[in-house]
Amino acid sequence: MTDTATLPETAAPVVKAKDVTYIRFSAPDLDVMETFVADFGLVVAHRDDDVLISRGLEPMPFLHVVQRGPAKFIGWAFEVDSEDDLLALAGAVPGCSPVHDIGGAEGQLGGGRRVHFVEPITGFVLEAVYGQQAEPLATRRGRITYNHAGVAERIGVEQDVSGNRRPIQKDPGAPEVYRLGHVVAAVPPGAHQFFMKFLADTFGMLVSDSARMIIPPGAEEHFPPPLVELIKTTGSDVMFQFMRMDRGAADTDHHSILVLPLMDGTPAAQLSHAAFEVFSMDDVFRGHMHFRELATQGAPYSLAWGVGRHVYGSQVYDYWHDPYGHVHEHMCDGDRVDASFGPNVIDMTDPGQMGHNGGNQWGPTVEKSGVHNLNGPQCDPKFADQPDDVRASLLSRDLSEVQHIVDAL
Ligand SMILES: [Fe+2]
Repeated sequence: MTDTATLPETAAPVVKAKDVTYIRFSAPDLDVMETFVADFGLVVAHRDDDVLISRGLEPMPFLHVVQRGPAKFIGWAFEVDSEDDLLALAGAVPGCSPVHDIGGAEGQLGGGRRVHFVEPITGFVLEAVYGQQAEPLATRRGRITYNHAGVAERIGVEQDVSGNRRPIQKDPGAPEVYRLGHVVAAVPPGAHQFFMKFLADTFGMLVSDSARMIIPPGAEEHFPPPLVELIKTTGSDVMFQFMRMDRGAADTDHHSILVLPLMDGTPAAQLSHAAFEVFSMDDVFRGHMHFRELATQGAPYSLAWGVGRHVYGSQVYDYWHDPYGHVHEHMCDGDRVDASFGPNVIDMTDPGQMGHNGGNQWGPTVEKSGVHNLNGPQCDPKFADQPDDVRASLLSRDLSEVQHIVDAL
């Protein structure tokens, strides 16, 4: 089903971004985060007293940055196609920095040019980069061939998905992360629709699936009052949208960004989660079992949602809160589509389209873990135990405490 009325009206975006490429946090304890990124399956590319920079196997210099500072999600970066794209952003986006070389340790790792700005709807710091270069890292495990019932594709070769078949180990360790897959923003209701439009207007993002609360006339009383009020206030029934890059006839992820309405009363936009692609379903489950084992031993990680397979985007997923509550996802086998896909409408009033369980093809019940844990770090079971200043900085979008970090971008 297609409904062009849900598409943001975007005749000519400033640029058509290529992908999301890295995510940026600040944290008071970089040692804790260095342990976390290793447990998650990232490779530390640079570490000093002020910054922890990690990468995946893809030929990009880094995909995850944590700078010493208050516990806070700062923002993420888009990769664009050219220096002209950076110049276009610098000229068109209010408050955007000039185009400049990427400096410091980030520049030493992979060069490149960059712009950044504080996006006013969300308060996120968004960056755009071009020209970063790095060699890929070799995988320890390689691509897995599965034997499907009746269709054996691996004959005479013993399956070795861990790289440590001998000796057999209780915990085969972290999966290998290849790349940043998508970023999901939870934005206060109403503002979330403006942010969707901003992404389309500025980065050329297309709508893959648009979830709408299509309430039949006269049936408002059967739906949650906050949603009914939101629709009345904004004049739009779009609740969330899976958005992808416009790469024309080339394939791209079903969603590189998803925008959710933050319905729990938290006043400022939050990172819902960042998803990192691993090679196979084995790696998703390996990450799940690894974190489960570590959490049992007392590591500060807690399950948010998983393991399951989504309906929209189709990824096999597993979401965990990091030591400060930010959700990091391992995922694989997402849909790849070109610019002709969709836009499709998900009617959220139809259980057959949204499902009773958060849009799973299969997965845990929402009682055990679920989409309700993806509104931000406040959903982390550990959140209440965090010191007051950590809780405050996590939820605030006040950038004054990290102004030196933003200024140095
Ligand atoms: Fe995700």
